[in-house]
Amino acid sequence: MTFAKKMNNKGRNIVKKYPQLFPLFRSLKILFFTKHHFSWWGSKMIEKYYIKKFSRIYFGTEGKYQRWQETTWLGVSALKLPSDMWVYQEIVYEVKPDIIIETGSMYGGSALFLATICDINKKGKIISIDINRKKDFPKHERIKFLTGSSTDKKTIDELKKDGKEELLEFAKKVISESTITREEFQDIERRLDKFVGDDAKEENLKFLSELFDSRTQSTINWKCNLIKLLRVGVAPKVDIAKFVHENIPSDTANNYLKKLEKRGIVYKEEIDSFYINENYEWMYSYIDKPAWLKEEFERRDLMALKEKEYQIWLKNNLERVESGLLKEERESTMETGTIDFLCRDIDGKPVGLELKYPKASKADAKQLIAYAIEQREKTGGENFRGIMIAPTIPDSLKKLLSSHELEYREIELDTT
Ligand SMILES: C[S@@+](CC[C@H](N)C(=O)[O-])C[C@H]1O[C@@H](n2cnc3c(N)ncnc32)[C@H](O)[C@@H]1O
Repeated sequence: MTFAKKMNNKGRNIVKKYPQLFPLFRSLKILFFTKHHFSWWGSKMIEKYYIKKFSRIYFGTEGKYQRWQETTWLGVSALKLPSDMWVYQEIVYEVKPDIIIETGSMYGGSALFLATICDINKKGKIISIDINRKKDFPKHERIKFLTGSSTDKKTIDELKKDGKEELLEFAKKVISESTITREEFQDIERRLDKFVGDDAKEENLKFLSELFDSRTQSTINWKCNLIKLLRVGVAPKVDIAKFVHENIPSDTANNYLKKLEKRGIVYKEEIDSFYINENYEWMYSYIDKPAWLKEEFERRDLMALKEKEYQIWLKNNLERVESGLLKEERESTMETGTIDFLCRDIDGKPVGLELKYPKASKADAKQLIAYAIEQREKTGGENFRGIMIAPTIPDSLKKLLSSHELEYREIELDTT
């Protein structure tokens, strides 16, 4: 019990015995809490003042105030506060990351520091980016120095390529070290696609748009904050302070966590403590900018409306696909999913049309492939023709579809 609470309880007992002392007790209480409050407030001010003063002295840019430029790691200049390095060490040791990306290498000292900790972890690579390239960057097998701006798309693409190679290496290692089942192989393939596939972004946003199920900025914000907390684990009953700090409404968030758990996105480790499932780690590339996420959701909503319009227009203009095509009324749903339209061609063959707007993705092509396989396995379905239709179909998808004896048509929406 705190001193203040003890005094309060004692005072209350005295007042119970001698009610005439109540006014005195109340005045004392007000005096005590006011003093207490002001001293707390005062100490915060002093703390702030010294932090500011320290930063100015340590990170100063002139003369004697240049201490930060004298910090080195294994002889290489590292422009950091040593206690920050200590915290980096704690994080890298705990998380044991596969890749660390540093934006701003300068002399490479902090990259070398991170590589040293990765050496101890026996794991991890550092990709350090800077607009300027220094000739004497430290040499270390775990570090790759990239030249370019970290906000430039070209640099990001190069990083993606690096990540892709890293993941492919990992996948090859898993495959060579163990006999894996078809499902495990598909899982690795799916995870690779989620991170680096050409149309991963669209697919991931589609998933998130449905998962967030809101276009209100404040709701998107707290859901992003909740997902951020899930990386290190969150126990709703214990972490009330964290929820308040991140503006997460605890009751709603509790229900949301249960929803995420039901879908296998998070798992409970201890009683009511939730962690992100590693299959959904990719979400962290999307939740840093909730305002951007809202814009993307709205863009997708608009596209979905356009896609509906495209479907209705094409249904009434089937001759644009090929002449003699007739729409069937029977069910188009199979175990592998649904196809937009089932038709018959001029020779009476079954034709499935999969429509996408404005661009078909690899996931769309895969869905059509799975559907066609299922149809062709059915008796009487061996003649099945599948056609992917969209204003734009990337060349890689055209190849993929052809290799499964499926067709494609690039058709623009034309409502004139
Ligand atoms: C304070 S130094 C980095 C110090 C380094 N991380 C260390 O601890 O040793 C900042 C560096 O960021 C680089 N920089 C500034 N803007 C950048 C950008 N858009 N992309 C990549 N590097 C950038 C500068 O060239 C400079 O070398």
